[in-house]
Amino acid sequence: GAPIDLDLSPVAEGQIIRVFWRGKPIFVRHRTPKEIADEQNTDLASLIDPAPDSARVKPGKEQWLVVYASCTHLGCIPLGHQGDWGGWFCPCHGSAYDTAGRVRRGPAPLNLPLPPYEFVENTKIRIG
Ligand code: FES
Repeated sequence: GAPIDLDLSPVAEGQIIRVFWRGKPIFVRHRTPKEIADEQNTDLASLIDPAPDSARVKPGKEQWLVVYASCTHLGCIPLGHQGDWGGWFCPCHGSAYDTAGRVRRGPAPLNLPLPPYEFVENTKIRIG
C-alpha cells in the first residue's frame, strides 16, 4: 500500500484516533504531559518487553504515540484509556498496555508494534 498522510491537528490532548493503513488498524494517541512523564519515569526492569519511552516515540514529538491496534497475544483490538496502566486493555484475555503501548500484563508477550512513519510537518505524519 501507498503511504498515507495524516493531519494530527484535530486530535485533542488525551484523544485516540484509529486509522487504517494497508488494511491494518493503527492508533494515534495524543498523550498528556502526565502520561509522558509517567512513561519516561517507568522502571525498565518492571517491563515485560523492556523499551524506554524514547524508543516508542519520535524525538521532540513525545506527545504522539503511533502503534498498531493489534494485541500481540492473538490480535484483538485493545480498548483505549482502560486497564490498570491507562493505555489499553485487551478484552479478549486481559492483557494491559501503558500509554507508550508497552505491555504491562500478559498474556501478550510484546509491546504494541510501531508502524513505519515520520513527521512531514509539525502536526502531520506520513505512515508507510
Ligand atoms: Fe489480547 Fe489475547 S488477544 S490478550
